[in-house]
This record gives sequence, C-alpha cells and structure tokens, in this order.
Amino acid sequence: MARLNWGMIGGGEGSQIGPAHRIGAGLDGHFTLAAGAFDVDPERGVAFAGQLGVSKDRAYGNWRAMLEGEAGRADRVDLVTVATPNATHYEITKAFLENGFNVLCEKPMTMTVAEAEDIVETAEKSGCICAVNYGYSGYPMVRHMRAMVAGGELGQVRLIKAEFAHGFHANAADADNPRIRWRYDPQQIGPSAQFADCGIHALHMASFVAGQEAEMLSADFVSCIASRTLEDDAMVSFRMSDGAVLRLWTSSVAVGRMHGLTLQVFGEKGGVSWEQEHPNQLYWTPVDGRTQIIERGAPDLSPEAQRASRVTIGHAEGMPLAFANIYADLAEVIAAAKEGRAPDPAATHYPTALDGLRSMAAISAAVESASGNGAWIDARPPSLRS
Ligand code: NAI
Repeated sequence: MARLNWGMIGGGEGSQIGPAHRIGAGLDGHFTLAAGAFDVDPERGVAFAGQLGVSKDRAYGNWRAMLEGEAGRADRVDLVTVATPNATHYEITKAFLENGFNVLCEKPMTMTVAEAEDIVETAEKSGCICAVNYGYSGYPMVRHMRAMVAGGELGQVRLIKAEFAHGFHANAADADNPRIRWRYDPQQIGPSAQFADCGIHALHMASFVAGQEAEMLSADFVSCIASRTLEDDAMVSFRMSDGAVLRLWTSSVAVGRMHGLTLQVFGEKGGVSWEQEHPNQLYWTPVDGRTQIIERGAPDLSPEAQRASRVTIGHAEGMPLAFANIYADLAEVIAAAKEGRAPDPAATHYPTALDGLRSMAAISAAVESASGNGAWIDARPPSLRS
C-alpha cells in the first residue's frame, strides 16, 4: 500500500487524546503526518508541528488556513483527524467533507441531533469517508466478541450490560476547579455531561458487538455533587433493535474505578465478558459449561481479531493500538478507492457518521427521559425512524 498523507486539527502539545492518535496513525506505516493545525493558539500549534516534523508550509495557524492550503495541493492530505473540543467538531468536519477530504472526527461528533443529521447528509453527498473515533471498537477481543455474536456462538442475545464508570470527578472540593467545571457546564458541553462523554462509548460498543441498535430508552441522571447542573452519574436502560435489553451505567464519581469500560453479552447459548483494563482476555461461559479464557493472539481467533492483533500472545496490547486498528481500516479503504479496487471487507467495520448520529439521538432521548422521570423515549435519530 502506498503511504497516505495525514493531517490533524487539535491534539496539540499536552492534549489528552492527541498522542494516542499519533501513535495509532503512525503504527503501521500507512500514514505520514504531513499537515496540521494542532492548537487553539496559532503560534503554539505551528511550533508543535515543527517538533513533530511537519514541514513549515504545512504547519498551519488554524484549521481554515489548513483547509485552504491543503485544498490547493496535489499531495493534499488523504485523511484529516479532528481532535478539538466538542463544540468545534461540526463546523470543522462539515467544511472538510464539503471540500472533498476524508475525516476521522472525535466523539461526540456534534452538539445536536440536527447537526449530526447534516454531517451524515454532507458525507453522503461528498462521497468522502466520515468516521467517528469510537476507538475502543478497535480492540482485537472486542472484534472477536462481535464475530462470536455474528457467527451465532451466543445464539439470540438476550441481555447486554455495559459500563463506563470512573471516579476522577468525585472530589466535591475540586468541583469548581476550571479544568473540571467546564465538563458540567451546559453552555460549553450541551445538555448532558457524563452520558455524552463516556456513556456513548459504552453504548457504541454494545451496539457494535451485539449488532443491534438502540430503539427505546429510559434514563435516570443524577448529580452526586450538588453544585453540578448536569449529571455525573447515569443509569440507562435500552430496548435494542433485535430484542435485547441493554443496561448501561456510566459515572464519574465511582471512586476506585479507573477507566471502567466493561461489556457483558448474555445470549441463549452462553455469555461473554470483557474489561478494557484487561483487554487481552475474554471470558466465555457456554450454558451449563465451564468458564474459559480466550487470549488475544491465540491461533484460533476470528479473522477480524487476528487482523487487529499485532504483538505475540502474552504481551499487552492497549488503547493506542486499538486506535491503530481504526487507522489501519481507514488506510485500507482510502487506498483501495485511490487504486480503484474493492477494499478488504474486514476493514469496513470502522465507526461512521451514522454511529455518531445514533449517539447524538441517544443523548437527546436520555436527557428528555431523565427530565421526565425516566419515561421511555424513542432513541433513534428522526431520519432512521420508520
Ligand atoms: P484537550 O483539551 O486535552 O485538547 C484539545 C486540543 O485541541 C488542544 O491542543 C487545543 O489547543 C486544541 N484546540 C482547541 N481548539 C482548537 C481549534 N479551534 N483548532 C485547532 N486546535 C484546537 O482535549 P481532549 O481531551 O484531547 O479532547 C479532544 C476531543 O477528543 C474531545 O472531543 C473529546 O471528547 C475527545 N476524546 C475522545 C476520547 C476517545 O476515547 N475517543 C478520549 C478523550 C477525548
């Protein structure tokens, strides 16, 4: 595969998620970091671009300059990652799609359902890829769980339990710290805090693995720290498209929980369980059988898990390598389009704008439900209701 040119917006020095993208995109040698507008502060962004080896003429002070500069080049970037704060995603992603660029946008894709519907439409019109970084779906054993469900090993899925609960915003004395306060400020974050930030990862993972989408939901939001307007803990029940029930718990005040993303899927023939903090093992229990540990890197894994697995069995593979699998999928699909061939079908399962839209609809429905005593609300985007 010929090397592809890659650009980043946001993800500047000291940012939380920028490094994981750079490790992920760089891992397999498919992408060269060719351009970037890395920082809200133009000078800092240009200096950081130089540090990363981006040439001076492609180290941009802001994303509009990058759009203009790259649009005029024969060797324009093949993929742009948008890793800026949430409220900027819509405007930047839309502008790049309209100018013919493939985009990988951080989650949440937009701030509203209407914006998300617009991004899906814009991507369709442009013919460009619009992926959304539900990067945890790149873990090999998550892909193996999905293959187990799709291959019928669990039979009909009855129940799903998903959690994304950490304890890092639990200190009431720290709640007014500006680094934390904005995360619970509706002016800056929209109508949901913890569910929109972490809950949607768990929801995406449940849908991705079970092959079912959210149809109805009932939500209970609480602010355990009284000064917060928005929720720091949520329990949401879902009815899924093929009959499964999903129970989802997300929290930022669960002291002692670390990253806290877990998934359990219970079917008529057995149950499977995975924890992101121990991502290389899957626990599988057939009905009336013994619990077995399935290891990443074992020889009889699904092709999807083999493809996503890089280092030998027994060595840890973690989050930036899961992101690398999203980048590897995108590289294959972009290269195939450039070479006029069909992509490897195993590379086509990356999360898309449609997943971003479904999340935005779920956030909106959960906010409505939580403010209406947990009433059951249609969780589907308006354009996907039939
Ligand atoms: P951060 O605040 O640590 O970093 C944001 C970076 O974007 C900074 O370098 C800042 O200077 C830059 N920036 C801000 N506005 C910009 C603009 N207009 N143009 C160019 N650069 C700009 O934020 P963090 O935590 O890295 O989050 C960024 C995004 O990534 C958020 O949307 C967040 O939800 C998402 N995220 C996703 C995760 C995942 O697992 N997929 C995990 C953590 C964050």
